[in-house]
Order: sequence, then C-alpha cells, then structure tokens
Amino acid sequence: MKSITIAIDGPASSGKSTVAKIIAKNLGYTYLDTGAMYRSATYLALQHQLNAEQVPEILELIRANPISFGQTADGSQTVFIGDQDVSLAIRQNAVTNNVSWLSAIPEIREELVAQQRRIAKDGAIVMDGRDIGTVVLPDAELKIFLLASVEERAKRRFKENQEKGIAVDFERLKQEIEERDYKDSHRAVSPLKAASDAIVFDTTGISIAGVVDFIQEKAEKIIDRK
Ligand code: DC
Repeated sequence: MKSITIAIDGPASSGKSTVAKIIAKNLGYTYLDTGAMYRSATYLALQHQLNAEQVPEILELIRANPISFGQTADGSQTVFIGDQDVSLAIRQNAVTNNVSWLSAIPEIREELVAQQRRIAKDGAIVMDGRDIGTVVLPDAELKIFLLASVEERAKRRFKENQEKGIAVDFERLKQEIEERDYKDSHRAVSPLKAASDAIVFDTTGISIAGVVDFIQEKAEKIIDRK
C-alpha cells in the first residue's frame, strides 16, 4: 500500500498533537511533533542564558545537541536533547513563555525545518506544527488546519498540565494562549496560517475520536487512490 504525508497545523492547544499521534499509530506512520523541537531549542537557549541577540550561539548548541524522540512503555512520547530526557522540562512555563521569540528567528527555523524534512523524506509521516502545510511539507497529500475557541483550548491545556503535575492558573493560561496565538500568527517568518489547500476544521465541542475519524477518513481515501 502507498503511504502519504499528512500535515496538521493549528494554534496552541488545538488538539494537533493528540490527534496526530493517534492517526500515526492507526496508520503505522511516524509522528513528528515539531513544537517539541522549538521547545527543545528554547530549553537549550534558556539553560545557557542565551537570548535573541545570540543566534550563532543558539544554532551551535542545537547542532551539537541533537533532538530526538522516543516512547515510554505506555506509548507516550519522550523527547531527548542528546541523551537527556527533556519531555517534562520543555512543557514548563519558562519554555512555553519564551518559545515565541526563539521560533521567530529565521536561521533557527531554517535549521529545524531542514531536520524536519530529513525525517519526512521517506513519507508515511504525520507532522504537526504551525507551518507544516505552508513551508515544511508544501507537497503533503493531506493538509489539515485545526481550530478551537480560546476557552476550549485553555480548558484542554489546563487539564493536560494538571495531569502532568504542572501548576497553572486558568485565566493566566488563557491569556498566555491568546498571546502565543498573536505572536505565532504575526511573526514575519512562517507565521501560523492555513495553507490555501488545507482543510480547515473547527474542533470546538468535538471529541478527540470525532477529529481523528474526520482526518483518518480523508487520509484513507487518498491512500486508496494511490
Ligand atoms: O505546538 P506547541 O504549542 O508545543 O509549539 C510550541 C511553539 O513552537 C509555538 O508557540 C510556536 C512554535 N512552533 C513553530 O513556530 N513552528 C512549528 N512548526 C511548531 C511550533
């Protein structure tokens, strides 16, 4: 059977990674969480007290400390920088609140996009992020752009954080999501936006299973035609 490339984009907490992971598992595809790569690069920069003025130093760190992914026994994703497990560290507020400045730097995007394309070169991949359908994989056979209200996304992230033991105030979380949406959509390079050939899907009030079914049905139709 032929395999395809699936790009899933959307704003913070729109459910991209949850559904992308399930779809990848169902189809036997690789899943790539590009947000985790920008978060890992941010973590590295913060650990070394680097800021937006120190791009060459950040790039050197990213090249010297490869980002990779693994899986725990129960199937959850793990993220490594070199051999350090940073799965939890990259979800902490310090990283979340600094990732926008780092991900607006063109040279850093160039480096991470090159890594993402290398991982996707054999197809059979579900990749999620902000610019996958527009920049990273413009030829992806299926492009989905997920939306959801800010209220609903804040609720989802609040629950996720609670489960991970990360303490955060709901109203503050909502405000941070709005701020990140604004920054991600208004940056000069690769802003968050739907590709002209993406299917835009508002997931407000729709269950995870409902979103997975919607995307998977579209994917299977394309796979069958190949
Ligand atoms: O998906 P996430 O919330 O974990 O992503 C964290 C940040 O990384 C997001 O606010 C913007 C950036 N990002 C990006 O610029 N491009 C991507 N393809 C993925 C994420």
